[in-house]
Amino acid sequence: MNSINNTLCKKPHLDDFSTHQSLFTRTPNLREGSALALRQRLHEYFVTTFDRYESLFETLACEEAYYEKSIPLRHPLIFYFGHTATFFVNKLLLARMIEKRINPRFESIFAVGVDEMSWDDLNDAHYRWPTPLEVKAYRDQVRTLVVNLIETAPLQLPVDWNNPWWAIIMGIEHERIHLETSSVLIRQHKLAYVKSHPQWKPSYETSCAPQNELLNVAQGEVVLGKEKSNPYYGWDNEYGTHKAQVKEFQASKFLVSNQEFLTFVEAEGYRSKQFWEEEGQAWLSFTKAQHPTFWHLRKGKWFLRLMTEEVSMPWDWPAEVNYHEAKAFCNWKKSLTGLSVRLPTEDEWYRLYDVSNLKNSSTQKINANLHLDHHASSCSVNKFSHGDFYDVAGNVWQWTETPIYPFEGFDVHTIYDDFTTPTFDERHNLIKGGSWISCGNETLREARYAFRRHFFQHAGFRYVVSEELKPVPGSHYETDKLLSEYAEFHYGDEYFGVANFPKSLVECAIEMMGDRPKARALDIGCASGRATFELATHFDSVTGIDFSARFIGQGVLLANGETLRYTLTEEGELVQYKSRSLADLNLQAVKDKVEFFQGDACNLKPQLTGYDFILAANLIDRLYNPAKFLNSIHERLNIGGVLMLSSPYTWLTDHTPREDWIGGLKKDGESFTTFDGLKMLLGEHFKLLQQPIEVPFVIRETKRKFQHTLSEVTFWERIK
Ligand SMILES: [Fe+2]
Repeated sequence: MNSINNTLCKKPHLDDFSTHQSLFTRTPNLREGSALALRQRLHEYFVTTFDRYESLFETLACEEAYYEKSIPLRHPLIFYFGHTATFFVNKLLLARMIEKRINPRFESIFAVGVDEMSWDDLNDAHYRWPTPLEVKAYRDQVRTLVVNLIETAPLQLPVDWNNPWWAIIMGIEHERIHLETSSVLIRQHKLAYVKSHPQWKPSYETSCAPQNELLNVAQGEVVLGKEKSNPYYGWDNEYGTHKAQVKEFQASKFLVSNQEFLTFVEAEGYRSKQFWEEEGQAWLSFTKAQHPTFWHLRKGKWFLRLMTEEVSMPWDWPAEVNYHEAKAFCNWKKSLTGLSVRLPTEDEWYRLYDVSNLKNSSTQKINANLHLDHHASSCSVNKFSHGDFYDVAGNVWQWTETPIYPFEGFDVHTIYDDFTTPTFDERHNLIKGGSWISCGNETLREARYAFRRHFFQHAGFRYVVSEELKPVPGSHYETDKLLSEYAEFHYGDEYFGVANFPKSLVECAIEMMGDRPKARALDIGCASGRATFELATHFDSVTGIDFSARFIGQGVLLANGETLRYTLTEEGELVQYKSRSLADLNLQAVKDKVEFFQGDACNLKPQLTGYDFILAANLIDRLYNPAKFLNSIHERLNIGGVLMLSSPYTWLTDHTPREDWIGGLKKDGESFTTFDGLKMLLGEHFKLLQQPIEVPFVIRETKRKFQHTLSEVTFWERIK
């Protein structure tokens, strides 16, 4: 206890932070100074965040404003008022920093009701919402709880990803995200439900929009991803590594202004389907949008909706749109200019950021419309210059072409394992740079946030002219139970000391092949393809064939140098996230020696012939006509070549009609095994090389349920 008591602190006095008073607190350096100093920094960071969040709700004009949804797909604002407080309780419980709930009823109401980062799929369960005063009283209880923890809980430095104190900073950063997303909901609310507030004053500066132009950005390397030792808080998706060479490109000097976007609106851009991507067309026909969502046309005059008021259109402010609108604008511009105009990729945005020399400061106002340092609104696109460009960060978020994907080494945090993973679906694009209200972690270079492409934030765009897009790294996690089990069976861990099955089979095969030629091998029924890769460490080329394109997809993905990502069931709906690449298995050198095709083992394409070795692992008892396969397989094999069969002989009528089983039944009153059937069917063209052997395998179903099977292996040499 001594060391703990030594680090206790009195409640910090505001005078301690007088130099920072005019600035909204920055996300703290967690590795600087003593434990006492860190307690003080966290205290200030928590209290200022909690207070500012509450002041945001003071812009609501009446009680009804808390309960009416501002958009149909989100909860009403009363939920968000309580939610950020409940989040602290939930995460502190998981981190074991507290042992009991404050208000179980509220904490069930205000827990996650919406898929947080996919921004849709509202759970429409009926809620009996408490009053704003009741929620405020609850928030006060949570405030006291968190302040007490910051002042008195044992603190072991450093505060990092594995430290229980991470939960406190997670709660604060989470609240800062909701400060922004709630401000968007308030902006989307009826004007009658909101009122102006001295802490939330917009800019009124406006002038003519500057003429936009394209400027060169030199080629260069970008290095993304942060290490766990980084002194600032990060969300799971920021960790790991990613490096890329970015070719020279051109980017617009300014964000696209309302004036520049008006040319698209007036050119009937919203009525011209050809400029919209397929998903954008669906959004357009559903919403019937004719202009950006915060624009309003009255008596021939355009107005812009800000958070708490409507103003005459500031033409020099950035156009705020979703991805579909930004993309349609680019496609329209492309058709006008013949240039390959598009949105930047995430890598290109980082290149722009790196050449702009933008510096964050914790003690001075930043030279960007960011951190709430300047206005509670956007401002002119030519107000903040960063090198040759303007608004590289700040003002409004900038849409990119890149769907969010995990860096190499991605891992979920145990107390918030669904922060990012639901967005790894190729449907959430990264937005970069932050807006006027982005603060905390959101303003760091490393921050990565992604939104559904139809979603509105305080977000706009800048366009670039560059070559065609490179495919983005895959982000999809295989969640199909069978495919995930096979991913683990082939590429995952070993259980109960049973060696990896495809690898064991190939070891037996190579021993049996001895000095025989090893030019070409066929892995038929290759499933996820592990044996195909293992065979390629011995053969010049290997063909993997499977009936299921979904299984082959895993092998193809790995052969392309990508990472196979899948979830494994722990129990019920709980899963763990796993990833494997060929490099993890020391197989990256053979990726060019394999090819995968979809095919039917009972009806193989004629060109699949001339093999020295054929493996059919766990295949014959899954075929609809195993005799047809066995009667013709010799045609694929060179004379002297070897056929390796392995099967547990689990005949099921689901796969093979009973009359087509080749064994495992009574024949003329006597037991007739599958091995008997094999000898009969293969006898004409093959010689049995040795008596059958058994090779075990284990398939993991859940954390506590495994399938342990013996597969019988036979080797057959083609003799004619
Ligand atoms: Fe949340």
